[in-house]
Order: sequence, then structure tokens, then C-alpha cells
Amino acid sequence: MYQVGNLVKELSDKHGRERESLMPILQGIVQKHNYLTDEAMVEVARELDISAAEVYGTASFYTFLDTQLKGKYVIRVCKTITCSMKGKGDIIHTLEDMLKIKVGETTADNQFSLVETNCIGWCHKAPAILINEMPYTELTPEKVTEIIKDYMQK
Ligand code: FES
Repeated sequence: MYQVGNLVKELSDKHGRERESLMPILQGIVQKHNYLTDEAMVEVARELDISAAEVYGTASFYTFLDTQLKGKYVIRVCKTITCSMKGKGDIIHTLEDMLKIKVGETTADNQFSLVETNCIGWCHKAPAILINEMPYTELTPEKVTEIIKDYMQK
């Protein structure tokens, strides 16, 4: 839990207080604090004069706008059709085995969160994942094991 302080006001001054400003404001909060608290979403609703339900609806629709605290490394596994057909299931199983968590969970040491996401634009090199901002593509269970081992040593 963090204090949103003046951040919502600063972001609203920067992006404006129109309905279209909602996304950049939410992204700005996530950039700074990694996720959106209820308090932050209520504050955004107040600042833009829209309902908190609308803010929450937008935030929960976009998987990149986390509404829960996530680990240091957020692993987003593409669940869209090309990746699904090219072995996304094996990638998920490998990650769950290595990290000892299920999709939607965070490791006890807060290092890794594992989530599924819609297409991340690497369909031509499926299956693909993102670890924070970094894409990893054409994955196999062996390849993803090596990648995660590297992150474990960081
Ligand atoms: S379908 Fe997975 S990256 Fe597009």
C-alpha cells in the first residue's frame, strides 16, 4: 500500500481531466507505484469527475494496469490463439513448476508474479512472454528455464 499523495493531481494537470486522460493517468500511477490501489482509483475518479466503477472497469480490463501488488518481475504469458497453439501450455507448466506458484500468484519472496495476458504483438515468434518490459520469444520449456534461472540470480 502506498500513499497516492499529489500524484493524481500532477498527472491530471499534465494529461488533462477529460475521459481520454484516464489511461495515461492510470499508466502514470502504475509506472511510479507498480499497481493501482483502491484509494488511487477513487482519487482518479474524483479528479476526472467520473465514477469509481468506470475507473475500476478500465483498470481491470487492461492486464497491464495491475490492481494488486506484484512481484519485482512480472511474467506475462501470452494466452492468445497463436501462442496457445504453439505451446503456451508447456511454458506455463514450466514456469509454475520452477516458481512453485500458479497463474495469478506471486512468489513468497515477492520476486516473481505469473499472469496471463492477451496478445503482446510477437505472434510471428510464438510462444511469447514478457518479463516486465522485456519480450522473450520462440520459447521452449528449456529456453524459459534458462531465462528464469538468470532472473533468479539477479
Ligand atoms: S498471440 Fe501471442 S503474441 Fe500474439
